Amino acid sequence: MKNIRNFIQVLSLLGITVLVMSYTGKEKETICNSRKTAFNLGWSFHLNDSIKDKDTINSSTAWRTLNLPHDWSIEGKFDEKSAAGYGGGALNGGLGWYKKTFKVALENKEKITAIVFDGVYKNSQVWINGHYLGKRPNGYIGFQYDLSPYLNYGDKTNEIIVKVDNSKQPNSRWYSGSGIFRNVWLETTDKLHVDQWGTYITTPKVTADKASVKIETAVKNQNSVSKNAIVTTAIFKNDTKVTSVTQNITIAANANQVLNQDLIVNSPILWSDEKPELYTAVTTISIDNKIVDEYKTSFGIRYFKFDLNKGFLLNGKQVKIKGVCMHHDLGPLGSAINTRAIERQLEILKEMGVNGIRTSHNPPAPELLDLCDKMGFIVMDEAFDMWKKAKNKFDYSVDWDKWHVRDLQDQILRDRNHPSIFMWSIGNEIPEQWSDEGPVIAKELSAIVKKLDTTRLVTAAMNPAVNMKIDEVTLQFEKNDTYFNKIAASGALDIIGYNYAHQTFEHHQKNFPNVPFIGAETTSALETRGYYDAVSDVNKKWPVRWDKKFTEGNPDNTVSAYDQVQTPWGSTHEATWKVIKKHDFLSGMYIWTGFDYIGEPTPYEWPSISSYFGIVDLAGFPKDVYYMYQSEWTNKTVLHIFPHWNWTEGQNVDVWAYYNNADEVELFLNGKSVGTRSKKGDDLHVMWRIPFQAGTLKAVSRKNGKTVLESEIKTAGNSSQLKLTADRSTIKADGYDLSFITVDITDANGVLSPKANNEIQFSLKGNGKIVGVCSGDPVSHESYKGSKHTALNGKCLVVVQSAAKSGKIELTAQANGLKQKTIIITAK
Ligand code: GAL
Repeated sequence: MKNIRNFIQVLSLLGITVLVMSYTGKEKETICNSRKTAFNLGWSFHLNDSIKDKDTINSSTAWRTLNLPHDWSIEGKFDEKSAAGYGGGALNGGLGWYKKTFKVALENKEKITAIVFDGVYKNSQVWINGHYLGKRPNGYIGFQYDLSPYLNYGDKTNEIIVKVDNSKQPNSRWYSGSGIFRNVWLETTDKLHVDQWGTYITTPKVTADKASVKIETAVKNQNSVSKNAIVTTAIFKNDTKVTSVTQNITIAANANQVLNQDLIVNSPILWSDEKPELYTAVTTISIDNKIVDEYKTSFGIRYFKFDLNKGFLLNGKQVKIKGVCMHHDLGPLGSAINTRAIERQLEILKEMGVNGIRTSHNPPAPELLDLCDKMGFIVMDEAFDMWKKAKNKFDYSVDWDKWHVRDLQDQILRDRNHPSIFMWSIGNEIPEQWSDEGPVIAKELSAIVKKLDTTRLVTAAMNPAVNMKIDEVTLQFEKNDTYFNKIAASGALDIIGYNYAHQTFEHHQKNFPNVPFIGAETTSALETRGYYDAVSDVNKKWPVRWDKKFTEGNPDNTVSAYDQVQTPWGSTHEATWKVIKKHDFLSGMYIWTGFDYIGEPTPYEWPSISSYFGIVDLAGFPKDVYYMYQSEWTNKTVLHIFPHWNWTEGQNVDVWAYYNNADEVELFLNGKSVGTRSKKGDDLHVMWRIPFQAGTLKAVSRKNGKTVLESEIKTAGNSSQLKLTADRSTIKADGYDLSFITVDITDANGVLSPKANNEIQFSLKGNGKIVGVCSGDPVSHESYKGSKHTALNGKCLVVVQSAAKSGKIELTAQANGLKQKTIIITAK
């Protein structure tokens, strides 16, 4: 931001003094704008249901010190009897207390100091120096309190206490995590400042020559006298100032004022999923030539339309939304957010060709949206999984009446400057969709959104969204139901969100001639990564149908990774994509889900504790179908063959290949051709059924007779060694950054042992620590927080975090009978 600094220097030369906000406290963390400092280090934590009340905390209460963000549930044991149920990941909630003592510099006495929580799961209550600040039931929404009236300044300390009550269970259909699981900030401002979420930037007219940028700025004066000030907004592209506007204001004592500033950006560089170009608006407030407040807003310039016939148009260009739904947990890290962990998930998805994220089914961490802005994802930002009617006994329905207006408003105010957001979803599979209350609430919520933002479309994720009797189309389930979705029919939605029932998608235009389409949630296919048994035995074990008793699944709770297993309400991956691909008016879809998540282990129950829906497993290892999407959604040349090549001699094995940019694929077994296949019609893979013979299986894709790619799989010999691969071998020495290290168990020649399930022990020396271990196995009950873990189908992940000190981190992995391996990560 060199030129932003230059801009401030220029203001100084003009006689406008720049006031640098200062804070006490030793945290040197990322400053997301110049007013905010991370407030995450050195909290004390106590987990105990017996302390129900703040006043029962006494000197004998035992505390442990930790840094936020923190999720206490992930530290616990998987528990069959957990009130959260296996749906909630079989991890317990409970009642937790956090406290932190801190000092505030004397010079801040005339300023406003607020504490900002990005999200606390759930029912948080906060006290400062014994004064009660308030309660926030919703675990996913951000909130802040003004601490100024109660603070001690100078040498006297302050104490903040946070009670987090996640004891009433079940309250979630998936793993929620518990605690202050998102970032906390201290925000210090002059009494005259841009209000919380105080800017709203829109780009009402965009052409290649110029974009009009409309900036609404809410200025708050907490002085007891009126103030004359100058408000300047400057727009920067990268480090260069593009334009600015200045306005004089007089603002009454203890009043708010909203300014409207209009700017023009010439030759705008547009934001898109492919080239996510961002601008920064820097708002400064000055009094008597002194800058008293500076507020930065990142935004993008783009225009879009959901066209009834052409689908989604971004900057005039047709873009199919190839999205995935994501829950908020980060696998072995639980729900404690970590920016690098989210970024890694998004990188893996981007590499597959994903260009859309649905924040199912709640407001996400702000860092996710920042990353979607920077990396280019088309976001559906969702508010609720239920309204008044409960899905679980203690879920948000309990708080609905009192809190839904505030929570929804805050979500829109917080998120509306993100260029990545294109749709607001007011709910997921809301039970009221079948009753007369549905349209009433949908209209209320839609009006709340539109009062704050009319630049995106309001949707809801509904099942079945089609406004027809379900037996008018061929569905394999609920044939005789006469569901009629009242929310879809209410007129409250700008875009109809379909959950599943892909067989109905083609009828959309007939049913809703004036409302565009989005597949809000699709597919729900199921796979265990690297598991392929029952291939030639399909009728005895999974896959095929699951709408039988669970006991007819595999006894070890595995699901075949061939794309053949689906929930009855969903489809295979291929089936839904084939429909979406076929018609322009189908603007896209969000697949359930991008990554596996903790909880909801459909189709199984306990002992399974994490999901099977992901295209990528819980550890971040792609399942095979990842490459089907990659072959369809990217320009990268793909040739992926599977399964592994360790079977019984003579056994029939189905070999599948996903490929692109070629006319055909020829398969060779130990050098001998076993046939050439090409995709016909809308095929998305080719297949050979061949008797197994140990050795090498080699696929060659060709275009016009010329080799495009070759791909080989080999029979693995006995497991003999470990291979460690870090996603990044140099990380930041900031106490937060992560290196994700993949452990492969291989034979002497480096061929992956496809069924190896050795227990791997990890040890670490140097400036870091192990913060997560995971194999992606939905049945494993080993702690993600331990230092050993059992591999699943040859693979395991270990996550290493830097200390706030530079140096080397040496990670060693060992397992009985295997050669151990060490990898060095540098933190700097
Ligand atoms: C949907 C629901 C999701 C998830 C999914 C599993 O109905 O919206 O949250 O439960 O089913 O297939």
